[in-house]
Amino acid sequence: MTRLRVALAKGRLYEPSVERFRRAGAALAPDAGRRLLIPSSDPAIEFLVVKPGDVPVYVESGAADLGVTGTDVLRESNADVLEPLELGFGFCRLVVASPEAAPYPLLPGGITARVATKYPRLAQAHFGSAGRPVDIIQVNGSVEVAPLLGLSHWIVDLVDTGNTLRANGLKERETILTCGAILVANRASQKLKLDAYLDLMDRIERSGNGTA
Ligand code: PRP
Repeated sequence: MTRLRVALAKGRLYEPSVERFRRAGAALAPDAGRRLLIPSSDPAIEFLVVKPGDVPVYVESGAADLGVTGTDVLRESNADVLEPLELGFGFCRLVVASPEAAPYPLLPGGITARVATKYPRLAQAHFGSAGRPVDIIQVNGSVEVAPLLGLSHWIVDLVDTGNTLRANGLKERETILTCGAILVANRASQKLKLDAYLDLMDRIERSGNGTA
């Protein structure tokens, strides 16, 4: 039997991903506990649960055959993987935001803006392509607090409802990327396990009419 290993990201994409695979006939074993390799109701499919930023790494290397990740994480990683299917959930935007009351984009005295973000590559590319010098400060979460504490002038982060920006007095200024959940696949394993891959792809595609 050909087995496919699927990397799922912890966090906001996890529940809708699990639901989508359940509808596709591969329900995660309910009693997984803290096991990170989880069998499913389909003996040909097992899951691996990792941090969001690690999904492209596992799939590019072939440690996982497939993965579910967000466009934001995928573009930041620059991983060389196939992108066979947009999954239709997890929509959000990667934006530049800054304090509502502060001038934008010019800072007093013409100083170079400091930009806090979990996405240093995408942020640098955004400003660099427009010839706008910035200093990127990489953080790993709670990015919205950076301007409040003077760590940065601006942030580059994901926005969904906009509640987190509003709650922290920040205003969305520019959209860098629209994002959503995407299925990615290892290039070699797609060829080596073609039948199993096509079967699963078909099931995932056909199970996409519900909420997730
Ligand atoms: C994301 C993002 C924002 C928030 C935006 O964080 O970094 O903080 O969600 O959502 P909103 O516009 O609906 O308020 P997430 O919850 O994924 O956690 P993280 O800070 O660990 O990345």
